[in-house]
Amino acid sequence: MTIPPPSPAEPPTAFDMRAFRNALGSFPTGVAIITTTGADGKPIGLTCNSFSSVSLEPPLVSWGLRLASKSLEAFRQADAFAINILAEDQKELSARFASGAIADKFEGVPWTAGHRGLPVIAGSVATFECDKFAEHLAGDHVLFLGQVARFDHGRQEASLVFYKGAYMMLTQSLRELAASGKLDSVHLDQARRLINCMLLRLACQNGSPEDFDAIERNIAEIENYSDAAHRAEASIEFFRLVTLAAHNEVLVVVAETLTTLLRHVLQTDATLRARPELVPVRRKILAHMRERDPDAAEAEMSHYFDQLRRGAAAREVHA
Ligand SMILES: Cc1cc2nc3c(=O)[nH]c(=O)nc-3n(C[C@H](O)[C@H](O)[C@H](O)COP(=O)(O)O)c2cc1C
Repeated sequence: MTIPPPSPAEPPTAFDMRAFRNALGSFPTGVAIITTTGADGKPIGLTCNSFSSVSLEPPLVSWGLRLASKSLEAFRQADAFAINILAEDQKELSARFASGAIADKFEGVPWTAGHRGLPVIAGSVATFECDKFAEHLAGDHVLFLGQVARFDHGRQEASLVFYKGAYMMLTQSLRELAASGKLDSVHLDQARRLINCMLLRLACQNGSPEDFDAIERNIAEIENYSDAAHRAEASIEFFRLVTLAAHNEVLVVVAETLTTLLRHVLQTDATLRARPELVPVRRKILAHMRERDPDAAEAEMSHYFDQLRRGAAAREVHA
């Protein structure tokens, strides 16, 4: 397949650069730190939000570097680079690696040597270790293409988002909302009940035997834990598995937001205790899922939330 050469570009229209950047900023992006090693073997890195996936086979990704960057020569000389996708709790790292004023950006930053010695930053949501595939001069930037030699998707944590020139930290904001006590626990329970019952009905319809087996293993795991904190985390996993069995990407996002809130509420709930009476209820829910009986499953899930509410009310009385 021959790609026709681009038609000669029209002479550039004088753009209002601020307006142009604002328009570009209306596209929310993630934030990454691109790293490589210099000729002296020292780690080099900078913050970047121009990262993009390019091709699956072969696995190619790209990012753009300003010609004005002090790191330009190092990246042009290097044969490999790593992409470290940042989590919400790595906002400080993003600011550090965006600073042109810090001499050693890696000082005090935990990292390990990956593919070809590339610096892999600890705590990233995902990392892509790449061999340089190509580089193209593109206006006032150089576009680097990398072929992914190794990748890791280590942390199931919310990613840092950059939008309109600012960092968006949805989960952090939700956590602050929960921590501020502004979140009514009755409303949280109501939302959980409604959304999880809806997801459960979908899971009865769309769930695979493998999905149900995963839930079975999770229920056994909950029963094996004696301490409330581990049981609570495994119970959150029960709802995540039900959500996955619904096979609806949009509802997964909704459920994850709820899970973030719930996890925060449970982590700060000093009265939390193991709830052995909920074990048979989860087993009945799973049995109805395998029978693909959404009505019976939903009735059992409602019973589950009734028990939770009763337990919470009892704890409030004795608190
Ligand atoms: C959120 C964010 C995204 C950025 N994205 C890019 C980018 O895609 N490409 C780039 O060249 N610079 C980008 N920068 C700016 C560089 O991080 C910054 O200029 C660089 O780290 C300065 O250091 P250097 O001159 O040593 O490279 C970004 C900065 C921030 C805060």
